[in-house]
Amino acid sequence: MSKLVITGGNRLTGEIKIHGAKNSVLPILAATVLCEGTSVIHNCPMLSDVTASINILKFLGCQCDFKNNTATINTNTLKCSQIPERLMREMRSSVIFLGAVLGKCGNAVISSPGGCELGPRPIDLHIAALKKLGAVVKEKYGQIELSAPNGLNGAEINLAFASVGATENAVLAAVTAKGVTVINNAAREPEICDLAEFLNLCGARVYGSGTDTITVFGVENLNGSTHTVIPDRIAATTYMAAVAITGGDAALSGINPSHLTAVCSVFEEAGCGLKYSNNKLILSAPKRLSRVSTIRTTVYPGFPTDAGPLVLAMLSKANGTSVMVENIFENRYRYVDELKRLGAKIRVEGKVAVIEGTSSLSAAGCKCTDLRGGAALVIAALAAKGTTVISDIKHIKRGYECIDKRLSLLGADIKEI
Ligand code: UD1
Repeated sequence: MSKLVITGGNRLTGEIKIHGAKNSVLPILAATVLCEGTSVIHNCPMLSDVTASINILKFLGCQCDFKNNTATINTNTLKCSQIPERLMREMRSSVIFLGAVLGKCGNAVISSPGGCELGPRPIDLHIAALKKLGAVVKEKYGQIELSAPNGLNGAEINLAFASVGATENAVLAAVTAKGVTVINNAAREPEICDLAEFLNLCGARVYGSGTDTITVFGVENLNGSTHTVIPDRIAATTYMAAVAITGGDAALSGINPSHLTAVCSVFEEAGCGLKYSNNKLILSAPKRLSRVSTIRTTVYPGFPTDAGPLVLAMLSKANGTSVMVENIFENRYRYVDELKRLGAKIRVEGKVAVIEGTSSLSAAGCKCTDLRGGAALVIAALAAKGTTVISDIKHIKRGYECIDKRLSLLGADIKEI
């Protein structure tokens, strides 16, 4: 099993390019199922979650090619609507295939996704939305079977919570349903807009993405198209935090600053200078960051839950005490115990973490508990005295393409062994 070995203390400088968004590419790959012919997806990050999605597409009978950040999917040979448990287990986001497979085949079978590292991950909102469109749901032996005996028909869907996944599944099932679907209290995340843009390029009629009301006019069929995935705003936040904690000065290209508004205001409050010019975000950090006022994770355009661990790690070395309130996932703070091994002074009570900034962190052996928690350890290790060895980095590989190479380019002492 590979590990990351990081010797902290180097000030990060230079320039790197941010890869395409994991949380965009996964639903877009699922969406290709709905299209006739070939879809070509550019800026597709080389991540284990992307490979897991491609493996699902292959299992369903699609022809897939994935190299040089481009995935080419041909669905003409699609033959199956059942995703086996072993493939479901590889990636929690596989639940996103539900709406697309149901829309394409009229039925879909997946194993129940159960919980994950972040706590229970229910899919009741996904199921309720699909039922509204006419799906009949049977659950047995850990399997969820969906069928649409009368086809899928447009409907009004009122989401009880603006769930990203449920919004995506509802859109995917609605694009080829008969009639009009209106999704109220829809998620507004940029990744929803990216999915809608891809679907519309394929011939769908999805309106209002990026607002809390999405209207979908069902069309008979979709044709594969070519699309470029948006930049990964969470990967961007990760590298910003890495530069900031080392007091560095670096440029990040290939980002969309409008997706980072909530995050940027925290970095500015912590004392970082941010400038956007020539399609690059330039971050200049002070020698020591300052504490910030209470951060509350929430739905977009608020502060993202996925950015929580990254910014928390960064603040562990700030001057003063900061507070974070995690409102989306109840088990999000599992990585905190690992950060404490590096000397971070953090107290967690329920949703609240109190981060007492310390002037020095020190290297230790530690273990990734989840994707963003793993990235938080990398950030802290970059600023810790000595050599930190981080194990269980399979979590990090789910969401970061060549994190070691990108950080090395900025001058970090990091290698994968
Ligand atoms: C979430 C994040 C998304 C992030 C993704 C990957 C939010 C709102 N969503 O999306 O930004 O990119 O993780 O880490 O920040 N829930 C239910 N029933 C459901 C679905 C969700 O109760 O059927 C609850 C979850 O328990 C959780 C919240 O809604 O409390 C998360 O919402 P959701 O947006 O669905 O999660 P993801 O789609 O995984």
